[in-house]
Amino acid sequence: MRNAFVASGIAALAALAAACGPTGSEPASAPASVPATPPAPKLTDAEKQAILATLPAPYNAGNLDNGKSTFALCQSCHTLTEGGPNKTGPNLYGVFGRVAGAHEGFQYSDAVKAAGFTWDAGKLDAWLTNPKTFLPGNRMTFVGLKDAEKRRDLIAYLKVETGYKPGE
Ligand code: HEC
Repeated sequence: MRNAFVASGIAALAALAAACGPTGSEPASAPASVPATPPAPKLTDAEKQAILATLPAPYNAGNLDNGKSTFALCQSCHTLTEGGPNKTGPNLYGVFGRVAGAHEGFQYSDAVKAAGFTWDAGKLDAWLTNPKTFLPGNRMTFVGLKDAEKRRDLIAYLKVETGYKPGE
């Protein structure tokens, strides 16, 4: 009698488990196509040219289209948009006026963390000319941009694209 009761109890549990089964195997919903952040409002070409005109020389003479082309050398590792993701390198939005090695959520090398300066056009110019000698021990695998005009155009482009506000 007692065994029969236990057996029916087990049968009931088994039925319950079977009924619960499908809930545990729901397909995980992958939000693959949902963008991490809403797209920031884009600057018009006229607004970009207006910002360019406020930059100190020689950057006010920079060519934004050329700068954009040169940024192709960087974009496998860096994004420029506000709230954009870190890749191999940190997101660069707001880099001008920011202390080196300070972008949240990025694991910098000790060399960059210890740099102790704030990025401005001059520092960026030296970094981009030869990252290896400018901050020995850093992890940016980039050979350097020897052409001063390309650096000028790239820095002007970066200023305009990374949220630089005239007068800052
Ligand atoms: C192969 C990947 C790669 C390429 C290409 C690359 N970078 Fe980087 N960049 C990095 C990494 C990694 C770091 C962080 C270095 C460290 O912590 O030592 C970095 C750091 C930086 C920083 C310092 C950011 C901060 O928050 O202090 C700037 C500015 C920068 N890169 C600009 C550029 C520009 C402009 C280009 C194109 C000319 C470029 N990088 C090309 C990987 C790259």
